[in-house]
Amino acid sequence: MEIVAEFQKLTIAIDGPAGSGKSTAAKRVAELLGYDYIDTGAMYRTVGLAALSAGARLDDASRVEQIARQAQIELRWSDGRTRVWLDGREVSEEIRRAEAAQAASVVSTVPGVRTILVRRQKEFAARGGVVMEGRDIGTVVLPQADLKIFLTASPEVRARRRADEMAGRGEAVDYEQMKEEVVERDRRDTERAASPLAAAEHAVIVDSTAMDAEEVARLIVLLAREKERRIGKEKPTFSA
Ligand code: DC
Repeated sequence: MEIVAEFQKLTIAIDGPAGSGKSTAAKRVAELLGYDYIDTGAMYRTVGLAALSAGARLDDASRVEQIARQAQIELRWSDGRTRVWLDGREVSEEIRRAEAAQAASVVSTVPGVRTILVRRQKEFAARGGVVMEGRDIGTVVLPQADLKIFLTASPEVRARRRADEMAGRGEAVDYEQMKEEVVERDRRDTERAASPLAAAEHAVIVDSTAMDAEEVARLIVLLAREKERRIGKEKPTFSA
């Protein structure tokens, strides 16, 4: 007799500040569980890029909201990477630049922009079997997620990770400046009125300062398996 454990697919929310390692961990979790991965930061970065390309003032909320409403953003997760298109043009590389990150941090403070993107994110997650990563996934986008993780690490370690990531792409980096940027983005992300970065109720808080991405991913997979059992989503089937 063969016993096959069939797992009904969960929705997993992973939130945390810049450089907490959540992207790397979330991608790996999606890979290990065979889930889809949705990088919501990429969506804010794309709106930031669209606003910069249109020459809009980033503090002009109604203009930025209009840009977000009109932007056709397509995300595709395949072969371990997220590819992004803005109005049919691939912007996967461009949105990773520092200007796009800063623009994203500003446009994400506009409530209308958040409403538009959150609606799209809820649609993406509706079918289950997703690991969605961002700042407000457990609190706003998927408060009913089966598993919520809040991933964090010290500002020094986060700045170091971001600096290494950029250096790996051949970009010039200044670690001290990177640390200032991390602290500045944290401040803006946690203090903004619209959906500030915060751990959701019942989120498992994981401090990754002394962990590598693989350890974080395996811990999350363990928690996901545990969750499947607890909520009775694991359905062993027996065949003769
Ligand atoms: O995770 P990231 O660095 O790609 O995110 C870019 C910016 O977008 C970041 O400053 C915070 C913002 N963001 C957000 O406000 N809500 C999300 N769900 C994801 C990102």
